[in-house]
Amino acid sequence: METIQNSVRSHYAQTAIKMRDGGNCCDSSCCGGTDAISGPIGEKEYSSAEISDLGLSLGASLGCGNPTMLAQLHPGEVVLDLGSGAGLDVLLSARRVSPGGHAYGVDMTDEMLALANENKARAGVENATFLKGTIEAVPLSDAAVDVVISNCVINLAADKAAVLKEAFRVLKPGGRLAVSDMVEVETLAPSVKSSLDAWAGCVAGTIPVDAYQAAVRDAGFETVAIEVTNTFGPQEAGLPDGAGKIASAYIRATKP
Ligand SMILES: C[S@@+](CC[C@H](N)C(=O)[O-])C[C@H]1O[C@@H](n2cnc3c(N)ncnc32)[C@H](O)[C@@H]1O
Repeated sequence: METIQNSVRSHYAQTAIKMRDGGNCCDSSCCGGTDAISGPIGEKEYSSAEISDLGLSLGASLGCGNPTMLAQLHPGEVVLDLGSGAGLDVLLSARRVSPGGHAYGVDMTDEMLALANENKARAGVENATFLKGTIEAVPLSDAAVDVVISNCVINLAADKAAVLKEAFRVLKPGGRLAVSDMVEVETLAPSVKSSLDAWAGCVAGTIPVDAYQAAVRDAGFETVAIEVTNTFGPQEAGLPDGAGKIASAYIRATKP
């Protein structure tokens, strides 16, 4: 598990450096990098006006959907983004929960946190905080947030049950989980499942929809709904010997 986490961290440290240098290394690409899924992810989910209003572009996203739309945020709410990357979803959430609300992002990669803080300064958003930590041990107290969002990150965790339990713990009763993630829709080849590059590229760590649904329920959530959106063949995912298929999905649930 530690090997996976170190490999994921190193992948996203490099990605953050490229995003910072090129400004726009990862346009239209989920997760970034050569073994990542590529496709028009996010183009139709995000409003370009909203992104440019923050002084950012879609290149600030390594996601596979837009959980900020899924969650229907309201002024005054507290939001947490698991694996906040360059910070786009945190900054959009911060705008939506203003006035009175706050958006937190948690990420384990220093280079991503630095980029997120630069993007926060560029956007002039004050009600957002980026925390260093893992999504398996979130640095927030119990029942601290109204909404947990996440965009293309939970598939990267080796222990998904631990992540979902943490999401449940930090939510207030009645709180909402709104996640965009990748899922496995056909069995991937063992060579793909064991590739650390494919894991960091949001492919190898994917699990089937029914396993995802069970993990969300086992964490204590109710009204669990998973909607598969875009499907990607192994070629699009840059995996020459991938025998299966992956898809992006929206996952919604509520804490009783
Ligand atoms: C594919 S990127 C997605 C970033 C962001 N959510 C977005 O939509 O642009 C994955 C991010 O999750 C972070 N990450 C991956 N696994 C993590 C973990 N176990 N704990 C904390 N952060 C993690 C990485 O550092 C990286 O910034």
